[in-house]
Amino acid sequence: MGIREVEIAGKKLIIHELDDVIDPVTGRALTGSWVWDSSLVLSEWMLSHGLVEFDLQGKIVIELGAGTGLPGLTAALLGAERVILTDVALLLPGLQRNVEANGLRDRVEVRELVWGSDEECPSHGGELAEVDLVLMSDVFYDPLEMEALATTLKKVCGKGTRIWSASEIRSWTGECLDRLMSEGFGVIEFPSRLGPSCSLSMIDDSPPLFAVYHLVPNVMNV
Ligand SMILES: C[S@@+](CC[C@H](N)C(=O)[O-])C[C@H]1O[C@@H](n2cnc3c(N)ncnc32)[C@H](O)[C@@H]1O
Repeated sequence: MGIREVEIAGKKLIIHELDDVIDPVTGRALTGSWVWDSSLVLSEWMLSHGLVEFDLQGKIVIELGAGTGLPGLTAALLGAERVILTDVALLLPGLQRNVEANGLRDRVEVRELVWGSDEECPSHGGELAEVDLVLMSDVFYDPLEMEALATTLKKVCGKGTRIWSASEIRSWTGECLDRLMSEGFGVIEFPSRLGPSCSLSMIDDSPPLFAVYHLVPNVMNV
């Protein structure tokens, strides 16, 4: 797949994409092997809303289903004190390579985190602890996975935790969000006018292809 260079806040992030990580169960390449446009949308959103929502100085950030890790690495560039990139085990070497390619090993770590698993939250060396910000891009694609995702979100969220996600709008995105709402999360949707592919050019007349979501944990549930 090769190497992508993404400009973030005047700096270039280097992202290696993989083409050889095969899911042994399905025989298909793991979807987190490459950069999805939603991750560009979310990084762009973080940059354009930086002072209000993404003042990350001293903050702990976790990315779920990180794939190649672009939003989490963006958070590190924006000043987060600690970033934890998580995904399934087979994708961790690629994530680690992207951390090192950008010289961010001092603040960014890579951990296995399968949604809904009984493992402790990795935000404090395995101890259960809350994070300040949760990032997710293109993880609303299988409604059946949302209950497990909600379980993990409840583990990492406390009263002050913010959750931001971006997704391509597909016919099943709404069902994924409905399931998260039934698990106690409020969902605020911000349609994105950004177009597909890395150019992220503005599209004038067509309906938005992507949206950014602010999920609000119900404090009674977390
Ligand atoms: C469509 S890819 C998006 C990858 C990356 N966030 C991006 O936008 O470029 C979905 C990601 O979610 C991860 N994922 C899916 N189900 C998961 C689960 N049950 N536990 C942990 N990660 C999961 C996949 O491994 C993959 O990295």
